[in-house]
Amino acid sequence: MAKVLLGVCGGIAAYKAPELARLLRKAGHAVDVVLTEAATRLVAPAALAAVTGRPVRVSMWEGLESGAMDHIALAAEAEAIVVAPATADLLARAAAGRASDLLSACLLVTRAPVLLAPAMNSRMWDHPFTRRNAAVLSELPNVRWVGPESGELACGWEGPGRMSEPAAIAAAVERLWKRDLDGRRLLVTAGPTYEPLDPVRFLGNRSSGRMGQALAEAAARRGARVTLLRGPSALPAPAADVELVPFETALDLRRELLARWRQCDAVLMAAAVADYRPRTFSTEKLKRGVGDVSLALAPNPDLLAELGRRRGASRTPLLVGFCVETRHLAAAARAKLRAKRCDWIVANLARDALGLETTKVEVHRARGKPLGPFEGSKSAVADALLDALAPLLRR
Ligand SMILES: Cc1cc2nc3c(=O)[nH]c(=O)nc-3n(C[C@H](O)[C@H](O)[C@H](O)COP(=O)(O)O)c2cc1C
Repeated sequence: MAKVLLGVCGGIAAYKAPELARLLRKAGHAVDVVLTEAATRLVAPAALAAVTGRPVRVSMWEGLESGAMDHIALAAEAEAIVVAPATADLLARAAAGRASDLLSACLLVTRAPVLLAPAMNSRMWDHPFTRRNAAVLSELPNVRWVGPESGELACGWEGPGRMSEPAAIAAAVERLWKRDLDGRRLLVTAGPTYEPLDPVRFLGNRSSGRMGQALAEAAARRGARVTLLRGPSALPAPAADVELVPFETALDLRRELLARWRQCDAVLMAAAVADYRPRTFSTEKLKRGVGDVSLALAPNPDLLAELGRRRGASRTPLLVGFCVETRHLAAAARAKLRAKRCDWIVANLARDALGLETTKVEVHRARGKPLGPFEGSKSAVADALLDALAPLLRR
């Protein structure tokens, strides 16, 4: 169906590359493979040639006698490039714009979607240089990620750095071209609320905004027009095709929501909205006193319940709430589903999600059995949720 260039780097997980190539072939794609020199030490080029039925390339300097310019032609013709495993060194080369080997040169030439499946020791993945390289690459409009997953690593360590399984990578490849939300309008909320006490203090929470932002970006990639209402967050700006509207308090968020929700096909409420706000705001900084201090708190409006009530029997737009619990997840999610009259509650445990880059969620639905659990990076989970949501939006 499509021309896919599979780049394989010198990580242990290279032994999974033939299985990934097989799955891509099975999905009907023409697969060309580029191995780095290091990868040839860890996986047999002949295995990849046999699975793909095409010659495997390693060097920029091969076949020049025939006048072919492989590093340009290969990349220019590819409808997607998948790098699995992507080593720390490949991420560094790509982030620096290097073209020092055939694979990094291809990444510089292509404008097609690029899917990176990193695999490395968790120290390497967590190192500030790798974090920076990943952040630089994430700014490119055509770069997507799958994994890495957390767990036992080939080097014997535990932590993030394990390459996603070939089946998950092959599924992520199919999503690269997916435009199943074309023409849909989505409103997504993300991040914490800050409820001010005085000019320098606030009541907040540990939400990072990552889940909501991942949903907004994934929906935009799939063709939706997306507005992201985002509370105070240290995250970079979302992808350029997402409209960002910042808010600070629950009441600010309510105003922004009420101005927009009716024009949307779905409202995804991933923000962690404070249930209470300080009853009074001191215009001067509060001073230290003697002994205990009590704070009077006033309830904030329940925004999900309010939208559920306002849309009434029409049940449009589709309404998805999120809940974070510390225990009894399924029971709490089902109770919220009824109380707030929404279509879905996406539920997660605080220890699995709050402030983390990965998450584990289950979906409780007004109609139908629960879905999930969905587990992995927040962007992979966002795509899994949208896979389930898209058919409801097309109706
Ligand atoms: C046995 C072995 C396994 C390795 N596994 C990894 C790995 O999983 N991830 C990684 O980033 N580097 C790994 N390395 C280091 C890379 O092979 C090395 O950084 C190399 O320069 C990467 O080249 P490439 O990015 O061109 O493939 C491994 C090295 C050896 C010897």
